[in-house]
Amino acid sequence: MNRIFSGVQPTGNFHLGNYLGALRNWVKLQHDYECIFCIVDLHALTVPQDPKELTAHTREVAAAYIAAGIDPEKNIIFNQSRVPGHTQLAWLFSCLTPLGWLNRMTQFKEKAGKHRENAGLGLYAYPVLMAADILLYKATHVPVGEDQKQHLELARDIAGAFNRRYGRDFFPLPEPQIFGTATRVMSLRDGTKKMSKSDPSDYSRINMTDSAEMVAQKIRKAKTDPKPMPESLAELEDRPEAANLLGIYAALTDHSLEETVRRFAGKGFSEFKEALADVATVTLGRIGGEMQRLKADHAYIDGVLRRGAERAEAIAGPILREVEDITGLLRP
Ligand code: AMP
Ligand code: TRP
Repeated sequence: MNRIFSGVQPTGNFHLGNYLGALRNWVKLQHDYECIFCIVDLHALTVPQDPKELTAHTREVAAAYIAAGIDPEKNIIFNQSRVPGHTQLAWLFSCLTPLGWLNRMTQFKEKAGKHRENAGLGLYAYPVLMAADILLYKATHVPVGEDQKQHLELARDIAGAFNRRYGRDFFPLPEPQIFGTATRVMSLRDGTKKMSKSDPSDYSRINMTDSAEMVAQKIRKAKTDPKPMPESLAELEDRPEAANLLGIYAALTDHSLEETVRRFAGKGFSEFKEALADVATVTLGRIGGEMQRLKADHAYIDGVLRRGAERAEAIAGPILREVEDITGLLRP
């Protein structure tokens, strides 16, 4: 059976990269798979969070899922901390994971920066918890943006390590699903950095709740090079800002990058930016507005999350008990 698991951290500033790299694909996949969409609040705690904001951002991400078109009846939507199996399985996996595997993780190196001795154990162990998230449900497919590829390779390695240690084919090796023309949306201020929730520059990212005027203004101010729009895909190689904006346009309009390049070839950037602002404000206006409305409706969102957690637990519980049996943990 094919089962999808994916998640977003409730750390605020839910942005266009999150939507195009992850959510937009989930909306399409929900018809063909059994899907579990998580709000990974425990992952958010790997860096300091204001408690009130963490709560608000958890509801905001749930609202984003529903506003983007995830059906909360058909799919499971819940927050990670409601199903204790995530942390239990993460511990068992941490006992199977060599430090050498974790030392390779580029996201940890970036986030820990120069002062690695001060980085928390949670930040270091983050990919082990992520492997537990996925494998607690024996998920087979994981739709994410490009930046999560290395973490998914680690999840496959951990699944393999468990299967080898206990001599059985228990966990599936989860497949990453990284597709579309915007698997890595870059900052609007710097085409070599990814669009990120934590970038201090507001103009680097388009938030899903930005007003239409704000979206148009950010696109108009986006960094570009002085040449006219590229004539071919090959030209995009050393024009990262143009490649990024064209990729966003292609993703938002469901066209290929090639078609999009052809459409704007040789035109001025300002004409292209107006066209991009038009398509972006339509999508964001629809989703952002609905997100604002839903996130204020605590009773509705909390109800969805409560039911989601019960349904998630119903899948996770039996799998975790099997893991305990395989591992030899007594349940007297
Ligand atoms: P995060 O914001 O780290 O919780 O990421 C949630 C999801 O959005 C993951 O699937 C990421 O891979 C995806 N994502 C985050 N930033 C970007 C980006 N700049 N471009 C494409 N996908 C992204
Ligand atoms: N690490 C992911 C991110 O920052 C979020 C995440 C946590 C996740 N657990 C997951 C994504 C399991 C997919 C599957 O984007």
